[in-house]
Amino acid sequence: MKIVVLNGSPKGDVSVTMQYVAYLRKKFPENEYEILNIAHEIRTIEKDSKAWENIIASVRSADLVIWAFPLYYLLVCSQYKRFIELITERKAQDAFFGKYAVSLSTSIHFFDQTAHAYIHAVSDDLGMKYLGMFSADMKDLLSEKEQKRLEIFFALTFSAVREKIPVQPEYMPLVPSAFVYIPGGEKTIRAGTKKVVILTDDDGSPANLAAMTARLLKNFSGSVELINLHDMNIKGGCLGCCQCGYDNTCVYTDGYVDFFNNKLVPADIIIMAGSVRDRYLSSKWKQFFDRSFFKGHTPGLAGKQIGFVIAGPLSQIPCLKEALTAWAENGGCNALFLTDEARDSEKLDALLDAMADRLVQGSELAYIPPQTFYAVGGHKIFRDRIYAGMRVVFQADYRYYGEHGMFDFPKGDIKTRLMNALLIPLTRIPGFRKKVFGDMKHHMIEPFAPVLENA
Ligand SMILES: Cc1cc2nc3c(=O)[nH]c(=O)nc-3n(C[C@H](O)[C@H](O)[C@H](O)COP(=O)(O)O)c2cc1C
Repeated sequence: MKIVVLNGSPKGDVSVTMQYVAYLRKKFPENEYEILNIAHEIRTIEKDSKAWENIIASVRSADLVIWAFPLYYLLVCSQYKRFIELITERKAQDAFFGKYAVSLSTSIHFFDQTAHAYIHAVSDDLGMKYLGMFSADMKDLLSEKEQKRLEIFFALTFSAVREKIPVQPEYMPLVPSAFVYIPGGEKTIRAGTKKVVILTDDDGSPANLAAMTARLLKNFSGSVELINLHDMNIKGGCLGCCQCGYDNTCVYTDGYVDFFNNKLVPADIIIMAGSVRDRYLSSKWKQFFDRSFFKGHTPGLAGKQIGFVIAGPLSQIPCLKEALTAWAENGGCNALFLTDEARDSEKLDALLDAMADRLVQGSELAYIPPQTFYAVGGHKIFRDRIYAGMRVVFQADYRYYGEHGMFDFPKGDIKTRLMNALLIPLTRIPGFRKKVFGDMKHHMIEPFAPVLENA
């Protein structure tokens, strides 16, 4: 069986994910493996047509394609995303069509599900036969139990490929819209003292994106600036080197960090405008998110009002909405969404104005919504890792978490510990237990009584 591994780590061979592939090679030596360092070589792949053609020829010859990647900001890294865009731009879909595929990732399980859903959807769009995902924690391979799990997953995968089993696609093709937005009369949105930054990756297509940001730029009165990611001095995607972990200093010396600190951090409202490209925004946008890793696992834009303004069928891509919502929530922001799916210029005018208004109001009242599972879960993952296993690498995070009271382990809650120590033994007494459990509903609302009395 010929297996082509599309390596999505910017670190190339020196990658955690590739250790899992190396393990597979040892355990299943009967297969032929070809590993293509996609993310690491993306510049060459973009520029050198021979390099591109070699990759496509390899995919064409494969019985199984393994999308192997590290998680980067709830998805794959920007370099890998760019490769996926090139497949369609260069009309190479036929090389992937009908191939069996699986996805294999390493991560710390922070939104690994959105990344795999993305790859699954991309595989379905390419007409591949997607057999499943394997999401390993970075260190899983060190455990015998997890080694076994990996072996079983791939034994099942290889058997499915050998037997040529049928596979049902899960994601319906996206239905594009031909709607052209023509903005109407102006309306003034008073931003007051609030600073607004409209960040876009507009490259001329689709035209709706530029029309939407133009309306916002015109209507906001006050400090408002439109910045195009394409005009910025960003030399490349995050390299995953983690050197920033020590003191938030990025190895790149381009304009990104300066832009982040001096344009975005002072802003109150950030409009993030982009178009749907395959099942996400563009790789340019992804590069923006990835490069913000110089802030480690700290909320670098906390307290901002974020308006996602998207051209394209966002409502058909729930995992994109989920990834952006979770990004904003984990960053301590309030996020509103708007797309051009209204398919009616007047309606879209009104929606854009309403969003702009709500962002200003949200900013004036400093509204940040309560966290859902996305950020509650995310915080616990980062808190535990930064406290323990990742502390040496992410020392800047460790300091930040300490200074901001983010090491909020329940073990530190002395009051609750004392109460548990007292009450748990008492509940062994049948009469006491009956009293507590028999009236649990009232006990649960008891603490709220003084709040309501004083409200
Ligand atoms: C820029 C960046 C973003 C990351 N984002 C995530 C993430 O969203 N979720 C997660 O669980 N791990 C995330 N990680 C951790 C990596 O996925 C993890 O370290 C992975 O094992 C690295 O694999 P590699 O050595 O093959 O590149 C991120 C790491 C970097 C450098």
